[in-house]
Amino acid sequence: MSYVLGLDLGTSSLKGILVSRKGRIVAEASSEYPVFNPALGFSEQNPEDWVKAAKNVIRQILIIVPDAKKNIEGISFSGQMHSLVLLDGRGKPLRKAILWNDVRTTLQCAKIDKILKSDIFKITGNRALQGFTLPKILWVMENEPDIWAESRVFMLPKDYLGFYFTGNKYMEFSDAAGTLMLDIAKKEWSSAVAKAFNIPEYIYPKLIDSIAKTGVIRKEVAAELGIENDVSVYAGGADNACAAAGAGILQEKTGMCSIGTSGVFLAYEGKEIKYYKGKLHFFNHIIKDNYYSMGVTLAAGSSLSWLKNTFAKNADFDGLLEEINKIPPGSEGLLFSPYITGERTPYADAEIRGSFIGIDIKHTLGHFTRAVMEGIVFSLKDSMGLMNRYADKKFERVISVGGGAKNKDWLQMQADIFNSKITTLRNEQGPSLGAAMIAAVGIGWYKTFEDCAEDFVSYGKIYEPDIARVKKYEKVYELYDKIYYSTQEICKNRIL
Ligand code: XUL
Repeated sequence: MSYVLGLDLGTSSLKGILVSRKGRIVAEASSEYPVFNPALGFSEQNPEDWVKAAKNVIRQILIIVPDAKKNIEGISFSGQMHSLVLLDGRGKPLRKAILWNDVRTTLQCAKIDKILKSDIFKITGNRALQGFTLPKILWVMENEPDIWAESRVFMLPKDYLGFYFTGNKYMEFSDAAGTLMLDIAKKEWSSAVAKAFNIPEYIYPKLIDSIAKTGVIRKEVAAELGIENDVSVYAGGADNACAAAGAGILQEKTGMCSIGTSGVFLAYEGKEIKYYKGKLHFFNHIIKDNYYSMGVTLAAGSSLSWLKNTFAKNADFDGLLEEINKIPPGSEGLLFSPYITGERTPYADAEIRGSFIGIDIKHTLGHFTRAVMEGIVFSLKDSMGLMNRYADKKFERVISVGGGAKNKDWLQMQADIFNSKITTLRNEQGPSLGAAMIAAVGIGWYKTFEDCAEDFVSYGKIYEPDIARVKKYEKVYELYDKIYYSTQEICKNRIL
């Protein structure tokens, strides 16, 4: 039996799946690591922790499937996007990685806007946001000049893992697109961006395709893990691109709604670049020369965890969610905007904060729970609406993944709010499946991702929109849509 291994380097853990020649998942394992918050708004991780977690996951998988020791043909990676890893001349990390959800770079984003103006999204397809890599590089240049002086190359998390396994430093296009330094049309590092901020040429890793082979697992690492054959390593992809492939989002009329810690509404874009006035993210896909767009709700699942931890700490999560089907759509007038950590799409605003509007004496915890879940889906509908408004996109179906796909009432709510068929995955593996697909296509098991998806992706239950609830939600959404502008000034002037 031959296998591929897909590793997804997430924000709280690294997950691995072993997939057989015909797309059957034969083993899965995960390993957690900490996030460090050394100051308000700072979010960092130790690259060595990722390596330890990857080794731990591979060891667990080899215990579950011992014959994989000789039979893994290929391995690839998916990873959290944008997070900055800086290496010295010997390939050692110079500091902890600065993560995608770190918000220390407001000044650096303003500097990028001031110097490059609208050129930034003409070149990179995106506007300067605190999460992206370029502002983080500028922050290190300004605040840690000694570290910057020693830096010889920058990497993103999964590329660092690839480098550890093979000894070769590469970055593929889907992750490079999230750095704000890639010319997404020419598929090369932008010389205009480099020149504007005095970024030396040596700092950029060599660019390659997602399915390109970057090497084989180094002998010492293979021996340490008990791997007995030469395992080919393929470059991999950004986690959102991998999640899209793993959900079979390979044609234009299908969207993806992912509700995890953050929420993503994603659409396959084909070969044409669309600017969406800089309001949506626009990135190169793992599928050669194709693109995808997406909007991000920063606090999606985390709004619901916040509600539970703050108001119902001892409640059981499933019990809390049970309550929502006793509450009618629209939560009897209670509205929630999920901006509890600021927002990215459609309002790139670090100062906005969430709100409950219309609290009534009759409202119970069930109303608050339902209102939070509705607010999260309304916020993702905002991203879907931008795709519709600026590119006339219509979705025949939306594939729902992540925590939001684990509750039937929440799935029905998505169908009613998006007014679209919602499809679930039979065996949801998230980005790690996309990573395994990259290895499978890279090896040549399949010619295209579409062929691979035939074997690797299978769909589960479909939720149809209910006309009466769709109509009601349209009216509620009109009110939700007014919350941002009605609360913007209050939030900006909050007394802390
Ligand atoms: C995307 C983003 C997040 C990370 C999470 O722009 O910042 O979805 O990729 O891993």
